[in-house]
Amino acid sequence: MSNGGLGGSMTNDMRPLVHLVGAGPGDPDLLTVKALRLIQSADVVVYDRLVGEGILDLIPAGTARISVGKEKGRHLLPQDQINDLLVSLARPGRRVVRLKGGDPYIFGRGGEEAMYLAAYGIATEVVPGITAAAGCAAASGIPLTHREVARSVRLVTGHLRDDQSLDLDWQSLADPACTLVVYMGVGTAGPLAEGLIAAGLDPATPVAVVEKGTTASQRVLRGVLAELEADVARWRVEPPALLIIGKVVALAAEQEVAEWVGAAEA
Ligand SMILES: C[S@@+](CC[C@H](N)C(=O)[O-])C[C@H]1O[C@@H](n2cnc3c(N)ncnc32)[C@H](O)[C@@H]1O
Repeated sequence: MSNGGLGGSMTNDMRPLVHLVGAGPGDPDLLTVKALRLIQSADVVVYDRLVGEGILDLIPAGTARISVGKEKGRHLLPQDQINDLLVSLARPGRRVVRLKGGDPYIFGRGGEEAMYLAAYGIATEVVPGITAAAGCAAASGIPLTHREVARSVRLVTGHLRDDQSLDLDWQSLADPACTLVVYMGVGTAGPLAEGLIAAGLDPATPVAVVEKGTTASQRVLRGVLAELEADVARWRVEPPALLIIGKVVALAAEQEVAEWVGAAEA
């Protein structure tokens, strides 16, 4: 059993403990109170590239910070070395915060790290964060579900498998009453759109690309599925960016949504 997130480094049964903490999509104001408390009482914070500057600024000056940032094609530290690092930091009883973009359990390898730590007798407590889908939807005025428009949401990854194919169930994803949110999908926008259209999704389905969602440099770009690949190239979309595909994208235009100022206010 964990110590309930008091910032301590040991569980009640005196096993070492690592906090796997979600940092949210970028805007520091979207951190949870618990995440902030843990960051401010940690001995060491181990963080990914997606954790923005505004959030890193909240780490006290005297606290050790280690970047293990991952970037497409350029891993500062491979996952197995990140796992070993966490073990070596936590074993002596340090208060370790493993800070991840968004939510640790959504395309964040949080489960893998927790299992690795468990194999070394180290407990984890996961602090959820606002995942990119929720953050980008809110910041762009796109309701992920909406009565009579979308009754479900699917979160999928557009990341290619080792054999360079997309591991997606096209038939089940081509559902006009479902909002599809694609993480890591900019590079595979073409095959994604092709697969969905081939499976029967209307080529005129609205699509939004949210770049650097919830930050001061957020861009929200809108188009239709059939033109997604060309649009992504024309817009010169930069990471991180999220694709939102579905009729709900058109609803954003019907609201008066204030522009997201994100970290600019922080
Ligand atoms: C490895 S996944 C991590 C997801 C994270 N664990 C979460 O819950 O949001 C990284 C992908 O999340 C998406 N992403 C994360 N933060 C984002 C942001 N601020 N704006 C747009 N997309 C973002 C992008 O698709 C990016 O390629």
